[in-house]
Amino acid sequence: MHTNQNLLEYYHERAGEYDKVYQNPAEQADLQAAAQYFQEIFAGKKVLEIACGTGYWTAVMAQTAQSVYATDGNESLLEIARQRIQSEKVRFAVADMYHLSSAEKYDAIFGGFIWSHILKQDLNAFLQQLKPLLRLNGLLVFIDSNPLENTNHDRRNISITDANGNSYQQRTLENGKSYSVLKNFPNDAFLRECVADIASEIDIQNFEYYWILKCKIT
Ligand SMILES: C[S@@+](CC[C@H](N)C(=O)[O-])C[C@H]1O[C@@H](n2cnc3c(N)ncnc32)[C@H](O)[C@@H]1O
Repeated sequence: MHTNQNLLEYYHERAGEYDKVYQNPAEQADLQAAAQYFQEIFAGKKVLEIACGTGYWTAVMAQTAQSVYATDGNESLLEIARQRIQSEKVRFAVADMYHLSSAEKYDAIFGGFIWSHILKQDLNAFLQQLKPLLRLNGLLVFIDSNPLENTNHDRRNISITDANGNSYQQRTLENGKSYSVLKNFPNDAFLRECVADIASEIDIQNFEYYWILKCKIT
């Protein structure tokens, strides 16, 4: 399990344009439904957020959570998140999600649009290292993209699939820089299999644009 420096660099370069992903009119109904769902399930909880980016979901969760400790590997994205959210409930920190440790235990861990950027062969070790950060029966929740034609997540944009079945998209930023970005599209069965050994009450919600995985750590 290694930190993907290419991915960190890609998002650092994309920081200023990142929030445009949340402006597609067609996705607003799904985004609102997901926001409502998160505000319900995280209500009153102490949440650790990994790869929080510009804080779109941090702001959503902070409405009802007891607290959110929002972390990301890139200070450039956290700076935008800090400007977005001024709440006593929210703390930000630079942290590599592959090397997390904490004396504290959280009621919930949340990751938005990061599952797809984790190598399939790293998922088991990645999920195992989250376990000690959660209290017993703590919630583990991820949201990520469905593959849809004519979107940024169109399967036809996949340029390479490696020997482990990881797919990569070639993406060009507004500054002209181009990156090969790991972007996997797991199906429900694969998601269930990944968390089966560490969780119970596995629940998968499917919206048009997104899926949400919620389970309880055992
Ligand atoms: C697709 S963005 C998601 C941002 C936010 N969660 C959202 O849903 O809008 C992916 C984020 O993962 C962060 N990231 C990539 N690799 C990371 C790592 N090893 N540790 C922590 N964050 C990482 C990037 O900096 C970026 O902010």
